[in-house]
Amino acid sequence: MTEQGATMDAPARTETAKPHLPDAQTVTQVTHWTDRLFSFRVTRPQSLRFRSGEFVMIGLLGDNGKPLLRAYSIASPAWDEELEFYSIKVPDGPLTSKLQHIQPGDEIILRPKPVGTLVHDALLPGKRLWFLATGTGLAPFASLMREPETYEKYDQVIMMHTCREVAELEYGRQLVESLKDDPLIGELVGDKLRYYPTTTRETFHQMGRVTDNLTSGKVFADLGLPKMNPAEDRAMVCGSLAFNVDVKKILEDFGLTEGANSDPQQFVVEKAFVGDGI
Ligand SMILES: Cc1cc2nc3c(=O)[nH]c(=O)nc-3n(C[C@H](O)[C@H](O)[C@H](O)COP(=O)(O)OP(=O)(O)OC[C@H]3O[C@@H](n4cnc5c(N)ncnc54)[C@H](O)[C@@H]3O)c2cc1C
Ligand SMILES: NC(=O)c1ccc[n+]([C@@H]2O[C@H](COP(=O)([O-])OP(=O)(O)OC[C@H]3O[C@@H](n4cnc5c(N)ncnc54)[C@H](OP(=O)(O)O)[C@@H]3O)[C@@H](O)[C@H]2O)c1
Repeated sequence: MTEQGATMDAPARTETAKPHLPDAQTVTQVTHWTDRLFSFRVTRPQSLRFRSGEFVMIGLLGDNGKPLLRAYSIASPAWDEELEFYSIKVPDGPLTSKLQHIQPGDEIILRPKPVGTLVHDALLPGKRLWFLATGTGLAPFASLMREPETYEKYDQVIMMHTCREVAELEYGRQLVESLKDDPLIGELVGDKLRYYPTTTRETFHQMGRVTDNLTSGKVFADLGLPKMNPAEDRAMVCGSLAFNVDVKKILEDFGLTEGANSDPQQFVVEKAFVGDGI
């Protein structure tokens, strides 16, 4: 994915005098998408098993010498040899003000304890699966869109992703584009995946909030699909707290029930971050 983002690949590994971090993994690639967004890949601990859609705690050593960790969705699928993450850059954020400067060869801390609700096991079987995301809330779906089980379990998969500006959609756009020719999963994806990106503050060929496009019925009309219903549709939601609350209400109005790992139902929700503003 180098069409637009500026990507750095790992140089031949050299020994440095830097101290080894606890649970250290080595950065292999970094791509900057905008001044607020970047993605990176790291080595995967051999023992790490996770379900596509889950998150882990990652970070760096803080100024006090203690690990400074934050929750991050794993953006790569469970079968990938490396781990990928898609990250915000918060200008004065304790972690991302530093993390945004990582380079191939650097180390990050990765606690190998994956958890989360955006997993196939938390949903009852259905016909269509909707991924509903804003901003970096795309990350768990970057994993699930590359997961074979997604296409084995559903006839259609719809990825709705909304950002303020067009450039903020680019990581997701390139990922979806790359799936068609992916030697591992391309055939399984076929024409099952429908991508529905929109912006809200910059002109684009498709616009509007996920919530508005669901309630107005625009997305169903545009994609030629029936209105969401509990018999056929399943959904996974990941965005800001306000987004999650609003989408949950809409899905419930369509008759869907929220589920969890311990109680599989028709939709599941996870926060893309904690807090309400940078
Ligand atoms: C379950 C879970 C999964 C997460 N997965 C990801 C992920 O895959 N990618 C990612 O970038 N972040 C993710 N986050 C957020 C992440 O944990 C950190 O908050 C983020 O990396 C910023 O860290 P910080 O220390 O720089 O700032 P923090 O002190 O953590 O955050 C400062 C403020 O920045 C805003 N903010 C934080 N994260 C975001 C974001 N992602 N998008 C928009 N605004 C934000 C919030 O208003 C927050 O109050 C996730 C959070 C949760 C709870
Ligand atoms: N994106 C930027 O260029 C930018 C730059 C500097 C700082 N920030 C700050 O960073 C923080 C996060 O910004 P962000 O753009 O990543 O996330 P965001 O504010 O959550 O917006 C991301 C997308 O979600 C939409 N959205 C927000 N709330 C929604 C809701 N309740 N229901 C449906 N859709 C909803 C937004 O539409 P609307 O546009 O209609 O709100 C936007 O398209 C904000 O506090 C912001 O002030 C953002």
